[in-house]
Amino acid sequence: MLKVKTILAFALVAVFLCAASAFAAPIVIKYSHVVAEDTPKGIQANKFRDLVAERLAGKVVVEVYPNSQLFGDGKELEALLLGDVHLLAPALSKFQKYTPLLQIYDLPFLFKDMAAIDRFQQGPNGRALLTSMKDKGIIGLEYLHNGMKQISANDPIRVPADAANKKFRIMTSDVLAAQFEAVDAMPLKKPFAEVFTLLQTKAIDGQENSWSNIYSQKYYEVQPYITETNHGILDYLVVSTTEFWESLPADIRPVIEECLKESIAVGNEAAAKKDLEDKQKIIDSKRSEIITLTEAERGQWVEAMKPVWKKFEDAVGKENLEAAIASNK
Ligand code: SIN
Repeated sequence: MLKVKTILAFALVAVFLCAASAFAAPIVIKYSHVVAEDTPKGIQANKFRDLVAERLAGKVVVEVYPNSQLFGDGKELEALLLGDVHLLAPALSKFQKYTPLLQIYDLPFLFKDMAAIDRFQQGPNGRALLTSMKDKGIIGLEYLHNGMKQISANDPIRVPADAANKKFRIMTSDVLAAQFEAVDAMPLKKPFAEVFTLLQTKAIDGQENSWSNIYSQKYYEVQPYITETNHGILDYLVVSTTEFWESLPADIRPVIEECLKESIAVGNEAAAKKDLEDKQKIIDSKRSEIITLTEAERGQWVEAMKPVWKKFEDAVGKENLEAAIASNK
């Protein structure tokens, strides 16, 4: 009799465990970002959500929060570390508080084009930087492109002297501050969500950003001049916390990583396309005049900003700087 009761008890526990796992709540991955949905990052985030929904239905749900609606760029990394969000893709310029090494990406005129950036990011130095914040509990999963940065302003900016004494919004990076100080301009670190209003009200004179952001944030509607400088890059690092990433079940994490890689390829494709298309839309709008620099004018910018490399050489690592320079060949 005792034996029958024991078998029954085991059977009941087994049924209960099966039912519990069948009804287990899915893992929720909250992915927050600050840009619009029709941008390289917005497209990547939504693609990642859709791929996960397809391949891990009922097991994992990705919730995407665009346009700073959950957290702005001033708070998102803190929110990640508190576990209030699980995935972010901040611009590489926004990690200064957690590592000096990623500031390599802010050095002006360091990378000649996106292909050079790709070579550096996929090479040993770029890959090693993914784990540069591990001691802070942040893990870099993959890079994501946006594009080269241009300078928009209220007045025509052709040579460095035109930028002198003007206020430019920058991301939270001391390298970007030094870059504008090198041409006697006044850099102001401000959150992305505030930039349009600051430009519209003329509280600042200009800003630097990719064609995609200048278009999707409508800066071109309130900035009559855009100088095509290609002086720096706007790229992202998709990050999570080591704690959250390592807590993902062993059969699920590889699938999520695969979805992430595929979505990044889609985001990068969108970045290359939007860089051309969004620039053209701005030209077609006739709201903003695009200034193309002559070789000599561009040379003045390179010359004026070059000392910034030396200033940050120790912070970013001499070997990283050498590898970045070599990626241009
Ligand atoms: C972003 O593209 O995520 C924001 C860039 C910026 O803050 O200018």
